[in-house]
Amino acid sequence: MSVPERAQAQAEIDRLRVAIRHHDYCYYVLDAPEISDAEYDILMRELQALEANWPVLITPDSPTQRVGGAPSPAFGSVTHPEPMLSLDNAFSAAEMEAFDRRVRERLGVDGPVTYCAEPKLDGLAVSLLYEEGRLVRGATRGDGVSGEDVTANLRTLPSLPLRLAVGDWPAFLEVRGEVYMPRAGFLAMNQRLQEAGERVFANPRNAAAGSLRQLDARVTARRPLRWFAYGLGAGGNDPALPDTHFERLGRLRGWGLPVCPLNRRVSGVAGLLAYHGEMQARRAELPFEIDGVVYKVDAVASQQRLGFVSRAPRWALAHKYAAEEAVTRVLAVAFQVGRTGAVTPVARLAPVAVGGVIVSNVSLHNFDELRRKDVRIGDTVIVRRAGDVIPEVVRVVIEERPDDAVEVALPTQCPECGAAVVRPEGEAIALSLIH
Ligand code: IVH
Repeated sequence: MSVPERAQAQAEIDRLRVAIRHHDYCYYVLDAPEISDAEYDILMRELQALEANWPVLITPDSPTQRVGGAPSPAFGSVTHPEPMLSLDNAFSAAEMEAFDRRVRERLGVDGPVTYCAEPKLDGLAVSLLYEEGRLVRGATRGDGVSGEDVTANLRTLPSLPLRLAVGDWPAFLEVRGEVYMPRAGFLAMNQRLQEAGERVFANPRNAAAGSLRQLDARVTARRPLRWFAYGLGAGGNDPALPDTHFERLGRLRGWGLPVCPLNRRVSGVAGLLAYHGEMQARRAELPFEIDGVVYKVDAVASQQRLGFVSRAPRWALAHKYAAEEAVTRVLAVAFQVGRTGAVTPVARLAPVAVGGVIVSNVSLHNFDELRRKDVRIGDTVIVRRAGDVIPEVVRVVIEERPDDAVEVALPTQCPECGAAVVRPEGEAIALSLIH
């Protein structure tokens, strides 16, 4: 093929890539698409057709190159350029006020401190390395020092730019953020899995983690994962960067990285409290799950002065919401037999929504737990689900116990194989003899 033909194909490919990146940005970052999905598909197909004719012109950052080809081998381990810290938690206004007091004392300021307040997204933390504006590596947090290399999987997230928009980004930039699964996508995906007879995920957080850590990137590509950037790692000391956290997030957004639109600058304790209350009131209707809010001292120079203690920064705090609870009725208690033969009582419940997830079964772990909580069939119970924790029965509402509530006895025969069930002396766990 002739040189002019190639040059023409290159020009057309460039035009399509620029257009597709622009529409990705409008859709995923601005939430304001300019064209329909069908029109977008046409652009993508044109690009795919051209690249099929001109394989030499395919580059790893082309929008067509997101879907992983062959299954990747088990994830490699990567050391983060800078450790990924975690956050100290507060559960009350008093603990939050104590945090603000410590910040002001250490900084030696009397007046209110400016904070950046953000939803605490309930997903999993990732680190993305951009070299010369191109995504070169993506990793999970792992133990904070090193994580798993999930680059191939992260590349399948359409909201994750494979190259940054034109800007004054540092040549070596580490962006930190949270991968999550929106509620709607989670419910639809679980329904699909259930219909296919596959294992469903307990909550959007597990679904996000399970979907990102797939060995076959094509599976990840089919999962409705999104992400938001919430900070910088290596490269964060570049002098060209703004000197407040909030403005830095704005800069990231300008480079094409999605940033949570609910982040806000607030002033002092009153501002933090108001933000916490507002997000709590809106929590149930947000398109994604949050388990609290995060406060960060906005001025980067102040963050540097405050520094870190053990594995958490002194300049940030997670203010968590109480676990979500709901009231429902016990319809039955079934006994499940595990691979080891352990017999586990499971309460079947009238389905109830707890923290955005429908709960209809809850493990009572073992027979002692069942007795201790004195759960009977017909009882009204309080069920709790705390973020990443599997649902549990908190307690029976004794005042509501009907006269005909039925006590549950340990079965004498295995419900699956009919073998005798024994409970060794002093053991909480009953065993089916043949299993
Ligand atoms: S900042 C040094 N901002 O919460 C600061 N974390 O409990 C590090 N998380 O591992 C984190 N939303 O996975 C930050 N807006 C947000 C967040 C957030 C969710 C997660 C993140 C982190 C964990 C710490």
